[in-house]
Amino acid sequence: MLRILTVVGARPQFVKAGVVSRALLEHSNVQERLLHTGQHFDAAMSSIFFDQLGMPKPDVQLNINGGSHGEMTGKMLIEIEAAIVDQSPNLVLVYGDTNSTLAGALAAAKLNIRVAHVEAGLRSYNRTMPEEINRIITDQLSDFLFCPTQLAVSNLEKEGYAPATIDLVGDVMLDAVNFFKRQAQKPKSYAGGSFLLATLHRAENTNSLDKLRSIVDALNFIHHNVGKVLMPLHPRTSKLLLENKIDLQVNVIDPVGYFESLWLLDNCQLLLTDSGGMQKEAYFFGKPCVTMREETEWSELIDLGVNQLAGSNFERIVSCVNDLLDSRV
Ligand code: UD1
Repeated sequence: MLRILTVVGARPQFVKAGVVSRALLEHSNVQERLLHTGQHFDAAMSSIFFDQLGMPKPDVQLNINGGSHGEMTGKMLIEIEAAIVDQSPNLVLVYGDTNSTLAGALAAAKLNIRVAHVEAGLRSYNRTMPEEINRIITDQLSDFLFCPTQLAVSNLEKEGYAPATIDLVGDVMLDAVNFFKRQAQKPKSYAGGSFLLATLHRAENTNSLDKLRSIVDALNFIHHNVGKVLMPLHPRTSKLLLENKIDLQVNVIDPVGYFESLWLLDNCQLLLTDSGGMQKEAYFFGKPCVTMREETEWSELIDLGVNQLAGSNFERIVSCVNDLLDSRV
């Protein structure tokens, strides 16, 4: 019997785990237990995903969120270690690049439990991003590296990983979109009309007041002059805008569940985002994307011309939006 302990904690991981857990259920020789670190805890950021994706309640529910990165990761390490000892899995499964991913992989590796990493091999080559540190270390700690793209495989090969540990398995977020897109749901808070969809939460943007102000100015300008901007607002961004009295004038709604997010992607004209996963989802729905970052882990989308990197610069964001909207006609 293969006993897997899956560690999740943040919104995108619920989506990925939902797909993989369903596939694991088909194997009678596999038993999966789920640990939720509590990194994301609001109903709109967590439980709605479990409900919509038909996931069982976590077997182990921790309540670790907030604080500095070291503090959050350290607390997770202590409690995940205890859970691993208690559950005695022979494999720990982690997803993506959050603090929950790193803590799960590190706790397992220290106990000599094998680690499988889904979304291995992604690189932005920007070490100031917490996610880049998390994914590099997680790959190092992993025995099974499940890569979504050929580029991810090449990144690992360049770093000298043994070919036998690397598998090109495709993108589980595409599996999720294909499985769930028929259940896409119009958000109750959507007031009608055509819109550009925007999301913003990356530490590199929200923790620099200059960048945050510049992006908000660009979104306000686009909203008033190009096309209405609809923005489900992440709690991190919401707090920082309030604390710093920054006036976001677009149509703001609360964070949405997975089905509502699929509907918004399917019905928007274009996506503006600093999320990793949503850049790909926009592509799956055939929507152009302006990425408000200086680099992306999904450079294939840039090469295809469907995604443009605008950073946090006002003029670049506005001109990328105009450019991509024009080239659609
Ligand atoms: C985390 C991941 C990021 C991922 C994102 C998905 C890390 C380092 N970052 O960023 O890679 O793209 O999740 O959303 O792991 N908050 C709430 N309620 C919640 C969740 C968060 O109020 O349900 C608040 C937290 O208290 C904190 C802020 O939002 O003040 C940021 O949350 P945090 O988990 O640190 O990181 P994310 O920005 O969500």
